[in-house]
Amino acid sequence: MLNQILTLASIASTASIVRAVAIDSAFLENDFSKIGSQEDIYQYLYGSAPHFSYPVNNSISLDIPETCELVQVHLYARHGERYPTAGSTADGINNIWYKFGNYTQQFNGSLAFLNENYQYPFANSSNYGLLTTPDNVANPYNPLLGSTTGTTEGLEFLELYSNILHKHENFTAWTSNSDRVHATAEYFIRALGDKFNVNLQTISEDASQGANTLTPINGCPNWNETATTAILAKYDQTFLTDISKRLNAENVGLNLTKTDALNMFNWCAFEINVRGYSDICDVFTKDELIKYGYYGDLMTYYDEFIGNPLAKAVGSVPVNATLALLNTPEDKLDQQVFLSFTHDTNLINYAAALGIFTDNAPITPESIDWTTDFHRSWLVPQGARIQTQKYNCKSPNNTSISYVRFIVNDVVKPLTNCSSGPGFSCSLPDYNKFVEDRFQDVDFYTQCGTSKVSNVTDLTFYWDYKTHDYNAPLEI
Ligand SMILES: *[C@@H]1O[C@H](CO)[C@@H](O)[C@H](O)[C@H]1NC(C)=O
Ligand SMILES: *[C@@H]1O[C@H](CO)[C@@H](O)[C@H](O)[C@H]1NC(C)=O
Ligand SMILES: *[C@@H]1O[C@H](CO)[C@@H](O)[C@H](O)[C@H]1NC(C)=O
Ligand SMILES: *[C@@H]1O[C@H](CO)[C@@H](O)[C@H](O)[C@H]1NC(C)=O
Ligand SMILES: *[C@@H]1O[C@H](CO)[C@@H](O)[C@H](O)[C@H]1NC(C)=O
Ligand SMILES: *[C@@H]1O[C@H](CO)[C@@H](O)[C@H](O)[C@H]1NC(C)=O
Ligand SMILES: *[C@@H]1O[C@H](CO)[C@@H](O)[C@H](O)[C@H]1NC(C)=O
Ligand SMILES: *[C@@H]1O[C@H](CO)[C@@H](O)[C@H](O)[C@H]1NC(C)=O
Ligand SMILES: *[C@@H]1O[C@H](CO)[C@@H](O)[C@H](O)[C@H]1NC(C)=O
Ligand SMILES: *[C@@H]1O[C@H](CO)[C@@H](O)[C@H](O)[C@H]1NC(C)=O
Ligand SMILES: *[C@@H]1O[C@H](CO)[C@@H](O)[C@H](O)[C@H]1NC(C)=O
Ligand SMILES: *[C@@H]1O[C@H](CO)[C@@H](O)[C@H](O)[C@H]1NC(C)=O
Repeated sequence: MLNQILTLASIASTASIVRAVAIDSAFLENDFSKIGSQEDIYQYLYGSAPHFSYPVNNSISLDIPETCELVQVHLYARHGERYPTAGSTADGINNIWYKFGNYTQQFNGSLAFLNENYQYPFANSSNYGLLTTPDNVANPYNPLLGSTTGTTEGLEFLELYSNILHKHENFTAWTSNSDRVHATAEYFIRALGDKFNVNLQTISEDASQGANTLTPINGCPNWNETATTAILAKYDQTFLTDISKRLNAENVGLNLTKTDALNMFNWCAFEINVRGYSDICDVFTKDELIKYGYYGDLMTYYDEFIGNPLAKAVGSVPVNATLALLNTPEDKLDQQVFLSFTHDTNLINYAAALGIFTDNAPITPESIDWTTDFHRSWLVPQGARIQTQKYNCKSPNNTSISYVRFIVNDVVKPLTNCSSGPGFSCSLPDYNKFVEDRFQDVDFYTQCGTSKVSNVTDLTFYWDYKTHDYNAPLEI
C-alpha cells in the first residue's frame, strides 16, 4: 500500500518535504476507529456534514392517529452526502492544501496530523459535486456515504409507509437532473425493493423550465442576494482571524488567512462525507463551531429563507402544487405517494413559503439569537427530508375530515395556529385558508420576472408526465 501511495503522490506532484500527500480518494487509507466519532459537530457545519435527524423532538408520534387513515404522503428531499462542488468551495479548500504543500517545516499543534502520511481526499476534481458512494471512495463500509443515506431513507420510508406504498406498486417519482440528486433518488427507490416499479422522471434545472421544476429559484432572475453581504458585514467574524492567527502562530510562515479559516470548515464537513471523519475538524474550538454555525444561519436566513423578499414566491411553486394534490380526491389520483428529490436551497425556499420556522423575529447579525428555531443545518443537513401526510379521520357524527401535517427530518413540525387536529395536524380546509392567507401577496411568475427566462407559469410535471416524458440529461 505504501508504494501505491508514493506512486500516486508523485503523479499528483505534491509536497516532497512534508509527508502529507494528495491521493485519489479511491486509495484513501482510513482510521476505522474514528469513523462516525464526530457526530456532535455536524449541526455546526452548515448542513454540509452527514445527515442527522432534527435534534429536538417534541415526542409527537410519526404514526397516523388510530382513528385515521393515511391517504397521501409527499416527500420533498435533498440529496445525500457529497463531495465539495467545483468552483469556490473546492477552490477554497485546495488553496489551503496548497499552503500546506508549500510549507517546508514540521506541522505543529492541531495540524500535527499532517506530518503523518495524511492523504488529501479532494485531489481528484472529477469527483467534485458527486454523491459519495462506494464507487468513488475508499471504504464502502463507511456508513456516512450519500449512497447509504439514500438507501436508509428509502428503507425507513418503507417501514413507515408500507401500506400506502403497496396501494400503487407502479408509480412515478421525480428528481432534478443534478447527478447527485438523481443518484440519491435511485438509491432510495432501489431500497424499496423489487415489488415496486418506479418510473423516475428527470426534470431539468434550467431557468427555461420557469415554474415547472423542482428548482424554481433558477427561474427567478429577480432573485437578489446582495442584501446578505451587508447583514454578514455586521456579524463579528473575529473567530475566523482567531483561527488563522492561532494556526500561524503554531506553524510560523504558514500564512493562513481569515478566508482560509472559513474554508477549513468546508474541508472538515466534506471530508467526513468521504472518509467518515476529519482530523481538520479538531482545529476548531466548540465556540468557533457555534459561531460558524450562526454565520451559516444568517447567510441562509437572508439569502434563501424568509429574510429574502422573494423566498415565499419561489417556495410557493412546490407548496401550491402539493396543495393541489392534497385537494384532489384519491380516487382521482393514479398514486398516493409522491417522491420529489432536489437541493437544500429548494427545501429552504419551500419551508419559507410553508411557514415553518418563520414565527420568531428575524435573526440578528449584531449578536447571536439564542431563541430562534431557525438553524440551517437542522433543516437541511445532507439527506434532508420534509414529508407531508394527509389523513382522513372519522368524527363522532361519522363524517370524515381530512388533515395534513409536516414532518421535518423525522420530527413532526406542527403549524403555528393550525395544529388542533389529531396528531397535531391542521384540517385540510383550515390548511387551504392558511396557504391562501400566506400567499395573498405572492405571485412567482410576476415577482420573479420569470418572463425574462421562460414562459412557463405553472408546475405541471406531477400531472402531465404521462404525455410529456421528462428525461433531462444529468449534470453535475
Ligand atoms: C420523535 O419522537 C417520536 C415519538 O416518540 C418518534 O416516533 C420519532 O421517531 C422521533 N424522531 C426522532 C428523529 O427521534
Ligand atoms: C504551492 O502553491 C501553489 C499555488 O499557490 C500550488 O500550485 C502548488 O501545487 C503548491 N505546492 C504544493 C506542493 O502543494
Ligand atoms: C508565506 O509568505 C512568505 C512571504 O510572502 C513566503 O515566503 C512563504 O513561502 C509563504 N508560505 C507559504 C506556506 O505559502
Ligand atoms: C477520479 O474520479 C472519477 C469519478 O469518480 C473516476 O472515474 C476516476 O477514475 C478518478 N481518477 C483516478 C485517477 O482515480
Ligand atoms: C406494473 O408494471 C409492470 C412492469 O412494467 C407490469 O408488468 C404490470 O402489469 C404493472 N402493474 C400494474 C398494476 O399496472
Ligand atoms: C439588489 O439589492 C441591492 C440592495 O440590497 C440593490 O442595490 C441592487 O440594485 C439590487 N440588484 C438587483 C439586480 O435588483
Ligand atoms: C513547533 O514547535 C516546536 C516546539 O514545540 C518549536 O521548537 C518549533 O519552532 C515549532 N515550529 C514552528 C514552525 O513554529
Ligand atoms: C360532524 O362533526 C364535525 C366536527 O366534529 C362538524 O364539523 C360537522 O359539521 C358535523 N357534520 C354534520 C353533518 O353534523
Ligand atoms: C357510524 O358508522 C358506523 C359504521 O361505520 C355505524 O356502526 C354507526 O352506527 C354510525 N354512527 C352514527 C352516529 O351514525
Ligand atoms: C397566531 O394567532 C395569533 C392570534 O390570532 C396571532 O397573533 C399570531 O400572529 C398568529 N401566528 C402566526 C404565526 O400566524
Ligand atoms: C414559449 O416559448 C417557447 C420557446 O420559446 C415557444 O415555442 C412557445 O410558443 C411559447 N409558448 C407560449 C405559450 O408563449
Ligand atoms: C397553483 O395551483 C393551481 C391549481 O390548484 C393552479 O391553477 C395555479 O396555476 C398554480 N399556480 C402556480 C403559480 O403554480
